[in-house]
Amino acid sequence: MTAIGSAPVRRDAAGKVTGTAPYAYEVSATAPAYCHPVQASVARGRITGFDTAAAESLDGVISVLTTEQAERLADTEDAELAVLQSDDVSFRGEIVGAVVAETSEIAREAAALVRVAYDQAPHDAELSAERDDLYRPEKVNPDFPADSAEGDVEAALAAADVTVEQTYTTAMYHNNPLEPHATTARWEDGSLTLWDSTQGVHPLRASVAKVFGLPHERVRVICPYVGGGFGSKGTAHAHVVLAALAARAVPGRPVKLALTRQQMFSLAGYRTPTIQRMRLGADHDGRLSAISLDVVEQTSRIKEFAEQTGVPARMMYAAPNRRTTHRLAALDVPVPSWMRAPGECPGMFGPEVAMDELAEALGMDPIELRIRNEPEVDPETGNPYSTRNLVACLRRGAELFGWAPRAAREEAGWLVGTGVAASTYPARRQAESTAMIRFERGRYFAEIGSADLGTGAWTVLAQIAADALGVPFDQVEARIGDTAYPIASVAGGSTGTSTWGSAIVEAARAFRDKFGDGPSDGDAAEGSVQPNADAERFAMHSFGAQFAEVRVHADTGEIRVPRLLGVFAVGRIINPRTAASQLIGGMTMGLSMALHENSVFDPRFGHVVNHDLAEYHIAANADVRDVQAHWIDEYDEHVNPMGSKGIGEIGIVGTAATIVNAVRHATGIRVRDLPVTPDKLL
Ligand code: MOS
Repeated sequence: MTAIGSAPVRRDAAGKVTGTAPYAYEVSATAPAYCHPVQASVARGRITGFDTAAAESLDGVISVLTTEQAERLADTEDAELAVLQSDDVSFRGEIVGAVVAETSEIAREAAALVRVAYDQAPHDAELSAERDDLYRPEKVNPDFPADSAEGDVEAALAAADVTVEQTYTTAMYHNNPLEPHATTARWEDGSLTLWDSTQGVHPLRASVAKVFGLPHERVRVICPYVGGGFGSKGTAHAHVVLAALAARAVPGRPVKLALTRQQMFSLAGYRTPTIQRMRLGADHDGRLSAISLDVVEQTSRIKEFAEQTGVPARMMYAAPNRRTTHRLAALDVPVPSWMRAPGECPGMFGPEVAMDELAEALGMDPIELRIRNEPEVDPETGNPYSTRNLVACLRRGAELFGWAPRAAREEAGWLVGTGVAASTYPARRQAESTAMIRFERGRYFAEIGSADLGTGAWTVLAQIAADALGVPFDQVEARIGDTAYPIASVAGGSTGTSTWGSAIVEAARAFRDKFGDGPSDGDAAEGSVQPNADAERFAMHSFGAQFAEVRVHADTGEIRVPRLLGVFAVGRIINPRTAASQLIGGMTMGLSMALHENSVFDPRFGHVVNHDLAEYHIAANADVRDVQAHWIDEYDEHVNPMGSKGIGEIGIVGTAATIVNAVRHATGIRVRDLPVTPDKLL
């Protein structure tokens, strides 16, 4: 009997659905005040003055903060977090002031009454591949070289039997977790407590402590429950600093701040739009001789974030000649950041559509084309793969989906087609995570300052601890989401379970060594994740294959996706229930990316015009039909002691290409610019 592999329901489920699990904004605090930001209405310029009289005279307003009188922060190196520190405006929507009031409604109304005068400067917020000021970043997220080159791509393309040379674009996308970003901040005797909706209490503490010049022990971050994050809660954003500043301005009172949905479109990060110039060369048998991907994307002028869009193309398929480049435009725009599978998600769009175009040019089945280009070792590093089961995913998927030599068909005015694409995501584990196993009143507790974004960490960490301790699952509980527990890495990069689980296994080993099978009340032992020597010797990645059936209405261009099926090779599955939810959730988000999501950015004003859920369309229930996630049996002994890999992000990778490829099959129209909207099919 092992807990790993069983499918218990989420331990936090009942609390969440009955409304008794407190989120960051809901935490009970004595006499809280409420903060609402004032945002810049120009995209670039200098603030020349404030008129706060009207706001201050409103009943219930406690304090108005502006760049003129806000407290100076100890550290302003991170420009995104240097809140209210300068009169310069760097993007529209930047925080330039705030109101603290007795209620959130009063704070919001008063914020609208604050008048800000600007000396407006011309701004520049338009991304294009033709700009003459594109630059090469030193590294792309998190620390990959910006460019890669192997062999002679130009010569290989010139000599190739068949080439595909196309430019693909992905849109700007905004993270829209159900729970908006929210913080409750309280100062007491020079120490700060934050209840913040975050993907990592410890990393957030480190950021905030630095900004305020505090030792870590004077900052505590608590976050037991998170209503989604998708990367947007993976790093500290400006509102967290603002909440802490606001609480300092009203001594003795905790301050609550929740971003509105509209504010999330300028203050919580986003996925940069990408322009991908893709070139493939192959012989008549479909063997790739050249893979080339030149990426252009944007960052903000004040803080660089370089999405690693070209990175997956470095390792996906074998070809002796390969190159990838990243070039950035630094614009007067909000700061881009992580969104589910940064790099791989946009970066598997161009290449996987190009592979479909190549298969078509060759008259070859797209699955067969991919199998022919399966590398023996990682083309980028020369290392063997710890496990690589892309081919198994393609074959199993073809079987489950009913992939057949294909004729598109028409049914009562609907054009029906099918498509396939591949998925991949790195299987990393992070350092700096420690777990404590504690025995209290006959039960075991695994304490680690990690997070559960809704992914299942509360549950799977207890499963891992139960097996590592050799005790039944129902005798074990996780304790997470508080810096009072040992340090843990961010829930990001699909590394959470892998990293924290490794620490828990070490802690359980130490516990058993010390106390054997007969612990007494109060016994505790600690263990930390060890550096993974195998990461140097093996290429460690997850793989998958996604299949879609689409129906496009011949007259209206309306697009339906009645079937989406993915097969993934993601190591050992800790909990089939939460794993399926992660994979299906990722695929659903990929469907949403393919057909609906699009932050429409108006460069004249420097903002997203459809900045709410009425106009930023996300796939709704009616759009999501039969979505299936399957996996093949895989155990990877190199990534972590559980044999698992990460599963949080791979589900979104490749979905958009799958749907675009199916749309092409159905309609004969090749859409290269996301999202696929009906106007592009008429
Ligand atoms: Mo994920 S975008 O690494 O939080």
